Amino acid sequence: MIKKMTAAELRRKFLDFFKAHGHAEIKSASLIPENDPTCLFTTAGMHPLVPYLLGEKHPAGKRLTDVQKCLRTGDIDEVGDPFHLTFFEMLGNWSLGDYFKKEAISMSFEFLTTQLGFAPDQIKVTCFAGDENAPRDTEAASIWMSLGIPEKNIYYLGKEDNWWGPAGQTGPCGPDTEMFVPLDRPDCGPNCGPACGCGKWVEIWNDVFMQYNKTADGKYVPLEHPNVDTGMGVERVTAFMQGVRSAYDTELFAGIFKCIQEISGNPEANSDNRSARIVAEHMRASTFLISDGVKPSNVDQGYILRRLIRRAIREARKLGITEPFTTKVADVIIAEYSEFYPELSEKADFIRSELHLEEEQFQKALENGTREFNKLIEKFPPNIEHKVISGRKAFNLYETYGFPLELTQEMAAEKGFTVDEKGFQEAYEKHQEQSRAGAEQKFKGGLADHSEATAALHSATHLLHKALRIVLKQEVAQAGSNITAERLRFDFTYGEKMTPEQLKAVEDLVNEQIKRDLPIVCEEVPLEEAKRRGAIGLFESKYGDVVKLYTMGDFSMEICGGPHATHTGALGHFRILKEESSSRGVRRIKAVLE
Ligand code: ALA
Repeated sequence: MIKKMTAAELRRKFLDFFKAHGHAEIKSASLIPENDPTCLFTTAGMHPLVPYLLGEKHPAGKRLTDVQKCLRTGDIDEVGDPFHLTFFEMLGNWSLGDYFKKEAISMSFEFLTTQLGFAPDQIKVTCFAGDENAPRDTEAASIWMSLGIPEKNIYYLGKEDNWWGPAGQTGPCGPDTEMFVPLDRPDCGPNCGPACGCGKWVEIWNDVFMQYNKTADGKYVPLEHPNVDTGMGVERVTAFMQGVRSAYDTELFAGIFKCIQEISGNPEANSDNRSARIVAEHMRASTFLISDGVKPSNVDQGYILRRLIRRAIREARKLGITEPFTTKVADVIIAEYSEFYPELSEKADFIRSELHLEEEQFQKALENGTREFNKLIEKFPPNIEHKVISGRKAFNLYETYGFPLELTQEMAAEKGFTVDEKGFQEAYEKHQEQSRAGAEQKFKGGLADHSEATAALHSATHLLHKALRIVLKQEVAQAGSNITAERLRFDFTYGEKMTPEQLKAVEDLVNEQIKRDLPIVCEEVPLEEAKRRGAIGLFESKYGDVVKLYTMGDFSMEICGGPHATHTGALGHFRILKEESSSRGVRRIKAVLE
């Protein structure tokens, strides 16, 4: 019999089960990744564990279990339907080079059958079908069969379905096996199952066999110790166990809806109402984000938070809420979730003050924006036929006053106008491209863009750095680097002016490496390993960090964020233009590739 349970019971059951199987319970990490500048948010339970999946030793041991706070923004516009959430909780168990497929699958099976109460014939599973990177996972399938899952309930699917990771561009990944359970309704046909798409079969758990590290050049390098990473969504499984359609119909949201109803006095503001769902979901995500230290702003995580809060405020207006309300909803969330996430009550004052400030600011923006909008409308001649607000003007309202297109459209419609939606999208996309370029720029340590020319000059900088150490017979250290598509500029610690002979020797040494056409290879390794292997370019970094290590044949090994050329032969001819003093004890070289 499938057991009814609350989310709190599910969390406890899961953690206790894996503790009984030798796992250490660890705390959820922050929603903001500590060591991964390529991702704004923690998107899966394994995300904070990447260094350990790559071989670093975890202080709590080789078997871990936790409930991880996660946030995914990919489907942010879908929130409001019964299924999509931005913030969610993920249960997981990990083997860091300890047990592998047999034990992982056996434990999943035991949990599903003894703790959640599924009969073996209520479970269907999928396994990896195999491709050029990894073989068909018949091993996982045989284990399932040995446990009592009938062969007809095992499906083989390709990489899109049965491969997980890496979480970012590079990192640990591997084939997975997913577990599905049926909603209480008839099959859609004889082939009804995980792949038919009718929605009867709900994925509730994923066991990933992390055997590979995907590198920046797209290779799948086998990991020395294969790992297990699993993920079970708390919201989805809680809804399933309670026999309801959506997480909004569980106690995870009940108190929040009650609060929204009380504030709005609107009986329709319930779990079926799209606007109420958006308010509830976005307020929950915002409350957790602020508790992890994020403040509303116009960049990065702060920008997402701002979008969530402002969208919640707009949707609340549709329910009839015009007074400030966000702190009241947050109070309910803090009260209900603090038992498991004590950071919420610890940060309660901070959460309230940030929400209050943002709400006040948005209120003002709404007033100013409305004034601006009215001015814009008044500028149209009275009897004009084409009552269309240009995309650029609509985008200006969005950018300056935080007016989303739909708000401008609603206000326009009230005055008999339409908005040039295509023009708005164009202006929006142009702006997005610019901000994306800006965000990428931040992580590239002195690179002006991502072109081939700058990548080649960046690689030349590594060769130059190493050549200087050889010619000057000193461990000169990088003191700065600035690269444009035209030239490189490299600052390094050295006390004297270099002689023309030294400069010539450096130039020759670099050009020799270019002629040798050395492969440029990127690996992600724990910082400690990079140090052990003698890499240069070490920067301040915490123990446990994973770093990118670029090697150029036997000549250079440097910790660096990239990007680089793929082989030194692509660099052309290296020429030093100038060597001069940069500051006391620091010299500067400008050089080009031609
Ligand atoms: N990391 C895997 C997932 O998110 C378990 O599905």
